[in-house]
Amino acid sequence: MIDDAHVPALRTALSNASFTVDDVYALLGDDAHSALGRNQTVPALRATRGGSDLATLIRLFALQVAVDRRRADSALPHLVEPLIAAGMLDSSAGEVRALIDIRPYGDELHDWWIVCDPTPGLNGLQAPMDPGYVLGISEASSSLAQLTVRDPIDRALDLGTGCGVQALHLSQHSGEVVATDVNPRALAMALLTASLNGLDIDVREGSLFEPVGGEKFDLIATNPPFVISPPGSERLVYRDSGMPGDSVVRHLVENAEAHLNPGGWCQILANWAHHDGREWRSDLEEWFSDTALDAWVLQRELVDPASYVEMWLADAGLATAPDYTRRYEAWLDWFAAEHIEGVGFGWLSLRRTAEMPVHRFEEWTGEIAPPIGPSVADWARRTDATRGLDDAAILGHTFRHAPDLVEETRGPVGAEHPESIVLRLQQGVRRARQVDTVEAGLVSASEGDLTAGQILDALASLLDRPADELRRTYAASVRELAADGFLIP
Ligand SMILES: C[S@@+](CC[C@H](N)C(=O)[O-])C[C@H]1O[C@@H](n2cnc3c(N)ncnc32)[C@H](O)[C@@H]1O
Repeated sequence: MIDDAHVPALRTALSNASFTVDDVYALLGDDAHSALGRNQTVPALRATRGGSDLATLIRLFALQVAVDRRRADSALPHLVEPLIAAGMLDSSAGEVRALIDIRPYGDELHDWWIVCDPTPGLNGLQAPMDPGYVLGISEASSSLAQLTVRDPIDRALDLGTGCGVQALHLSQHSGEVVATDVNPRALAMALLTASLNGLDIDVREGSLFEPVGGEKFDLIATNPPFVISPPGSERLVYRDSGMPGDSVVRHLVENAEAHLNPGGWCQILANWAHHDGREWRSDLEEWFSDTALDAWVLQRELVDPASYVEMWLADAGLATAPDYTRRYEAWLDWFAAEHIEGVGFGWLSLRRTAEMPVHRFEEWTGEIAPPIGPSVADWARRTDATRGLDDAAILGHTFRHAPDLVEETRGPVGAEHPESIVLRLQQGVRRARQVDTVEAGLVSASEGDLTAGQILDALASLLDRPADELRRTYAASVRELAADGFLIP
C-alpha cells in the first residue's frame, strides 16, 4: 500500500474530485448505479464518458477499466507513480489500471473511503477467487454496522477487520479501536482505509482473540469467516475459518466474556448449522452454558443445503468452473454426513452480565426498519428491568406501550368485537403479535401510571371475569410483551 507520506495528497485528490457516495450517484444516475449494483458496468461506462476527474476515478476503481495516463495524472496529481510503486496501480502503453479498489462509503454524517480488492465478477466474468481476497462492503458488513450498539465507549474491537469498515464506524463512538485480522493484506488495507479518513486505529495481526489476549473491551463487533464449508476444500480467508462446522462462531461466543468489560457487548454476524432432528435453539443454547452473557440471537433466514452451496460456490467465482458439479456434490455429501439439514443466518448480540443471564432465541424473517442497534440497547434495558422477577413482581410493575406500536383489527364492518387484533412495532425488528381482547386492553392501558396487575383487575371487572384468574393467566403475557418490546418497563 502507498506510504504514509502520500496519504494526505491522496485524500486531497479524492476530495477535490468529489469522489463521494452522493456525487458518484449523481454522475451515474439511477439506472447506471443500479446496473453497477448488479455488477454490470456498461451503463456506467456510458455515463462516465465526460472525462472529469470524478469520471476518471469511477472508471479506474469501480469499473476496473484502463484510463489514459493524462487523465489519471489529472485525477491523482503526483500520485500515479507512487501508487504504481505501491502495487495499487499498474501502467502500460500510456494507460493506467487499478489493482486495488478505493471506493466512497459513508453514512448520514460522513464521507469516507474504503480500500479493498476490486469487485469480482463484473459483467458476468467468473473467475475463481484468490484465497487472500480482501472483501469490500458486503451485505453482511452493512448488516453488522446497523446492528451494532452505538453508545459512547472507551474501547472497541473489530475482530476480522478486512477492509476496516467496522473500525470506521466504531471510531465514531469509541475512544480506542483495535482491529485484527489473520490476513496481512487486509490489515494493510484497513490501515490505509483508516489513515485516508484521518482516523487512528490499532491494527494487529493474528487469529480470533489471539492478538488481544488478556485485554478487555466495551464492544466487540465481528463479521467472522462463518461459511460452513467442507474440510479440505481450499480456504478463502475472507469467509472460511478452517474450523469445523459452525465452531468459529461457538468459539467467539465461548470466549467473548473473557474479553468484555462488565456490561460490554459482543455482536456477531453468523451462520449456524441446523442438524437433523435437533432444535437449533438447543444447539446454540449449549454454547452459552458456561458464560455469564445475556444473549439475543435472532435468526433472519434459514437456507436449505442446496441453496447454501449454490450461493457460496457462486460467491467463490466457481459457478462456471469445470468441476462445479463435483464441488457441489462433495459439499452436499459432507452436509449429509454431518446431518446438517439447513443453515441459519442471523445476528448474535451478547452482553456481559453479573446476574442471572437471559437468553433469547428468536426467528424473525419479517420486515425490519434499520438501524437495529437502538433496539438491541432497548432490549438490554428491558432485560435488566425485568430480570428474575416472579409473576407477582412482574404484575406489580408499571409499563408503557411502545411509542411506535400500531394496532390492526380485522372483522366484519360494525361488529362489536373484532375477529383478530394484531399489534405491530414500526421500528427496529418490526414484530407482530396476535393478541386477545385482554392483552389488547392491557397494552393500550399501559401508560406508566397503573401496574399491569391493576390494569388486569380493571379488565376483569369490565369483562366480568375473576380477577385472580386474569392475573394467573396473563402474567406470562406481560412477561412476553415486555421481552418482545410491546411493553416497556
Ligand atoms: C467476512 S470478512 C469481514 C470483513 C469486515 N469486518 C466486514 O464487516 O465486512 C471476515 C474477515 O475475517 C478475517 N479472518 C479470517 N479468519 C480469521 C481469524 N481466524 N481470525 C481473525 N480474522 C480472520 C478475514 O481475513 C476477513 O477479513
